[in-house]
Amino acid sequence: MLSYPLSTVKVFNSIFTQLYTPYPIMYAISKLSLKRLILYQAPRGTYDILPADQEYWQFVKSSIIDICRFYGYQKIDTPVFENAGLFVRSIGEETDIVEKEMYTFEDRGGEMMTLRPEGTASICRAYLEHGMHNLTQPVKLYYITQIFRYERPQAGRFRQHWQFGFEAIGDADPALDAEVIDMAWSLYSKLGLRDLVLKLNSIGCRNCRPQYLKTLREYYTDKIDRLCPDCKRRAERNTLRLLDCKNEACIPIAEQAPKSFDCLCTECSDHFDSLKKYLSILGLNFDVDHRLVRGLDYYTKTVFEIQPPGAKGAQSTIGGGGRYDDLIEELGGKAVSAVGFATGFERTILNLKSQDITIPAVANPSTFVAFLGQRAKDKAVEYVTQIRREGMSAILASGNRSLKAQMRQANALSANNTIIIGEDELKDGVVMLRDMSGGEQQRLAFEEVLNRLRG
Ligand code: HAM
Repeated sequence: MLSYPLSTVKVFNSIFTQLYTPYPIMYAISKLSLKRLILYQAPRGTYDILPADQEYWQFVKSSIIDICRFYGYQKIDTPVFENAGLFVRSIGEETDIVEKEMYTFEDRGGEMMTLRPEGTASICRAYLEHGMHNLTQPVKLYYITQIFRYERPQAGRFRQHWQFGFEAIGDADPALDAEVIDMAWSLYSKLGLRDLVLKLNSIGCRNCRPQYLKTLREYYTDKIDRLCPDCKRRAERNTLRLLDCKNEACIPIAEQAPKSFDCLCTECSDHFDSLKKYLSILGLNFDVDHRLVRGLDYYTKTVFEIQPPGAKGAQSTIGGGGRYDDLIEELGGKAVSAVGFATGFERTILNLKSQDITIPAVANPSTFVAFLGQRAKDKAVEYVTQIRREGMSAILASGNRSLKAQMRQANALSANNTIIIGEDELKDGVVMLRDMSGGEQQRLAFEEVLNRLRG
């Protein structure tokens, strides 16, 4: 495939348009032809993480790693794609993810594969495949991974996004639900996010939910005509999702609907009460919200979401999770209780930015090495390498530019020191060391400079 570097395209456009086009339409045509000649763009709903943004990503990642260490979670990586059936079975056939959003393809061997649309199902598959039920329970695992969902892109919603998730598998104790919520909350606090809201609900288990769903369907029977087309479609087979519809006509109806937490069996009701007690002990405030049901079918009992202030639209939830006590059995294992959570990097970073949170600056390169002339350049190459071998960062001036241009480069890189090597320095067997913050300069032997850089 033919492709041109951007600079060539720009030059071409400028010559072409100046030769043949009257000025007023030059700009429009130039943009058009530029667009035509750039053959590829990142696919819709995806993006590049450019160097300028990397410090946010590093900050979030390193905070995650600290939090996981504090709470005793170990990292797991799973394949980017899995058998499509794993996700259909786990997430549920009637969900938006399975119905509309999965990237599913037939591989060359004729098997149906899906790019991971969420993390939990893969972790449960790995738990079963590697016999982790033989380990001390609960097994606590975390992942940082790309997720693929064919969604309508908008701020905070992408077709490929990054998630941090963690799962505690093998324990039914509500204290563990509280710990998972606390861990999610601690991450956001560590990052500096403020004014978040914790929403909580219990949607019961396979014993009490059928009765609740029956009550819910009865409630909706004479209201179907007033619902949006999505709700009408879901009314029979995915009734729970009628509760979290964002359509203005559906909200007041959902507000008045019977509440799942009023219809729990004794076990679920005790679990919910204990969870609320533990959250109070932990000092975590929460709003019980009967309309919170989550978009994946595997949840039982606890569901929760954490929302940023003024939450709206696609970014209304920064992270969410819950308990899924039947999933491992559903995937062919014994009944094993589990609870987990996931949050999107993009929404977390959007909130860090909208809350003006200062993140730790990435360390500047310690030393920039400038030179004048070929002989000095040879020395500069040698010194840069020597500094790096000592475990410190050093950057060699690019090309053979003027000293002024080299100093501009050192400033742009925010180097702490610059070593300058010219003809005089070569002759005297020294270098010029310039402190870039104060501007003081000293002629020193390179060994002495190394000593100073070592601190
Ligand atoms: P989820 O709510 O579907 O849950 O996704 C978790 C988080 O991923 C969301 O709160 C949001 O921050 C982010 N997210 C989801 N979709 C997108 C998107 N299209 N673009 C950008 N960010 C997005 C789960 O996936 C469950 N597996 C969570 C879980 C773990 N439950 C139990 N364990």
